[in-house]
Amino acid sequence: MPTALLGQLYPEHLATLCRHAATALERGGYDHLLIPAGNAHYQFLDDMPYPFQVNPHFKHWLPITKAPGSWLVITPGKRPQLIYLQPHDYWHVVPEAPAGYWVSHVDITIIRDAADATRHLPADPARCAIIGEPPSALGSHVPNNPEAVVNYLHYQRAWKTDYELAMMRVASKLGVRAHRAAEAAFRAGESEYGIHMAYLAAAHETENELPYGNIIGLNEHGAVLHYMSLDRNPPAQSHSFLIDAGASFHGYACDITRTYAAAHAGEFQALIDAVDEAQRGFCSKVRKGLNYPDLHVHAHHVLGGILRDQGFIRMSPESAVESGVTNTFFPHGLGHYIGLQVHDIGGFQQSDTGGTIPRPPGHPYLRLTRTIDANQVMTIEPGIYFIDMLLAELKSRDVAADVNWEKVDHFRQYGGVRIEDDVVCTGGDPENLTRDAFAAL
Ligand code: GLY
Ligand code: MN
Repeated sequence: MPTALLGQLYPEHLATLCRHAATALERGGYDHLLIPAGNAHYQFLDDMPYPFQVNPHFKHWLPITKAPGSWLVITPGKRPQLIYLQPHDYWHVVPEAPAGYWVSHVDITIIRDAADATRHLPADPARCAIIGEPPSALGSHVPNNPEAVVNYLHYQRAWKTDYELAMMRVASKLGVRAHRAAEAAFRAGESEYGIHMAYLAAAHETENELPYGNIIGLNEHGAVLHYMSLDRNPPAQSHSFLIDAGASFHGYACDITRTYAAAHAGEFQALIDAVDEAQRGFCSKVRKGLNYPDLHVHAHHVLGGILRDQGFIRMSPESAVESGVTNTFFPHGLGHYIGLQVHDIGGFQQSDTGGTIPRPPGHPYLRLTRTIDANQVMTIEPGIYFIDMLLAELKSRDVAADVNWEKVDHFRQYGGVRIEDDVVCTGGDPENLTRDAFAAL
């Protein structure tokens, strides 16, 4: 863990967040920014909490993901104040004493009871922008999430500081290490569940610490975009393996997808290789000024070309896109911003005052419509799938005559291909966090 490097980078990160907070408060007409970490949520009729997930605004400021009941108070011109809940509790592990490179930059007040935070919050809630979910309310300090404040902060979230990029490089390293272990488990004939356990062990993370639930599909399960069932037994024969799985580092995510063919499935390997080559081409286009929806539409054309060249369809890539045929095989968006959240917020935002940039017509699942700038991080995740439901729809259309159904039906056993990297837009050539991490293994 590059703690020394993080320590060097943290002051600049904090200064950037302080600047953004000051502008956001000015826009909203508030004096203080309050950020509750969040609380435990309990299951219906039960005293069992759901796994705690910290408010992303909170972990933006501090590398703390497990401190329910704590609060941050940001007042322009003052050092950030952390009100840190360390309850007297012999039932649970109490959050660790504050330690590390960030501690000397923050004023810390320890409280033993969640309600005690009130005494340390600014007295007049009307002067506070309180960013959090409703259950974080404490007395009259109720999250108000003022639009002017939130819009500004969410728009700025897209630009990562050097500190954040360093965090994401580590998350990527953890992720690719686990991906390698998962591939080995697949080659050894493990079940989806067995592969999942190998992944967790190599990532050194519990399921609740991952940025999202692992998608681990053998054979036709690769066709379910968010397949999470984890069969306990391996299939009679594994032909293919799709894994979409990430890792977290201090609350920052990586999001990585790889697809593998079994040794006997050379025809599927050929499709993987083509998608992989196309994906690398899309990654190379992540540059300042890129209109992301344009890249998404470009990806449809390239994938349409692969479908034709490999004999799945008999039509030009242009007509495959125009007729919606590529939507059958590539029915999700090319990617999304990533950072504190795997689908980082703000991907549709028009400006720092709000507004929405609509998706291009006919592309309802695209999650990023902004123009890309340096220091933004996004996924590039094209795919080609053989999804029964979508193929049935395609079969009922006139254009079905231009589909090689024999080949398409034969490929259903493989599920599909998706290749996903996390890519940083820089001032020049893009930085591929995922491929760099694989290369460094
Ligand atoms: N990795 C899951 C997703 O991006 O939806
Ligand atoms: Mn993704």
